Amino acid sequence: MQHADILHWLRQHDPERLRPLWRRADRVRRTHVGDAVHLRGLLEISNHCTRRCAYCGLRAPNRSLPRYRMTADEILDACHTAVAFGYGTVVMQAGEDDGIGTPWLADLIREIKAATPLAVTLSLGERPDADLAAWRHAGADRYLLRFETSDRALYERIHPPRPGTRSDRIAILHTLARLGYEAGGGVMIGIPGQTYHTLADDILLFRTLDLDMIGVGPYIPHPHTPLAPQADTPHPDQVPHSSALMACKVLALTRILCPLTNLPSTTAVATVDGAQGHELGLQRGANVIMPNITPIQYSALYQIYPSKASSRETAEQTRATVRRRILALGRTIATGRGDSLNRLRRLAAAPT
Ligand code: 5AD
Repeated sequence: MQHADILHWLRQHDPERLRPLWRRADRVRRTHVGDAVHLRGLLEISNHCTRRCAYCGLRAPNRSLPRYRMTADEILDACHTAVAFGYGTVVMQAGEDDGIGTPWLADLIREIKAATPLAVTLSLGERPDADLAAWRHAGADRYLLRFETSDRALYERIHPPRPGTRSDRIAILHTLARLGYEAGGGVMIGIPGQTYHTLADDILLFRTLDLDMIGVGPYIPHPHTPLAPQADTPHPDQVPHSSALMACKVLALTRILCPLTNLPSTTAVATVDGAQGHELGLQRGANVIMPNITPIQYSALYQIYPSKASSRETAEQTRATVRRRILALGRTIATGRGDSLNRLRRLAAAPT
């Protein structure tokens, strides 16, 4: 599929004409990664953040948000919950928090790996290469870092770097792959200033980067961020925000271009379409769901965007809902870690 074909689908809004896209994405998903849905327990270990991203509610200048950081014991307890729930992976996510010390987390990863069979995924923002290496050495398996948009000028507008540095998430994704992580990227859909044209570039970049995991979700304006007020005269090619349909189109196209990659039906889609967001994702390319296992007193404070799906639910309730939805679609729940078939293919193809 070329840029023009991707653009054609992204601009298609007629539900009848979109049917062939959904069918094709679902077929590719079934053929390449099967019917089993992998469950990853999402643990939001800290909402501290040193960055000032224009879109995100965790940004440092948002003084209205009470901040928390989970203790090692709380994190280990949640990992045991993940195991009891049958989840094969724990995803530890946080703002870019310098309070998450490198040796502290390395020790914790070792403890989790010794005490449980869980795969460990990290999603902790742009950390120095030495941190990424230390955590990989300690046993971390995967790392998620969305590049948010491939439009460099837009990226710089919404994503100020740490003082004195240049933020280059694509370079970090290369580093992650070199360190032997399964590397995950992704974008938000409908960022003010994002056009259909650049969104098509984003999808092509997924394939060029040969990512093992790709997360895509609608941009949802957060009132305590500078990006929230929408531009009065949007660009004529502006992608709409908070749209489950747009997110599904990107997901379906991503599945077609990256058949072996693990693709979650994301929380952001379930937030904008509470009734059927998760199901639509699973039927349009996704093979992963990341149910939240964060203790409720903390998850209520992990406000990347407003009214995040499941932020008022306990981990048990989320588990029950997610299981019911998967089984109702005639899909199965995977057991085991659910490692990326894309990475296995890459390793098999690599010269020894
Ligand atoms: N709307 C939707 N997604 C968001 N993220 C951050 N802020 C928002 C928002 N307002 C996404 C980013 C980030 C991921 C952890 O959450 O893509 O990489």
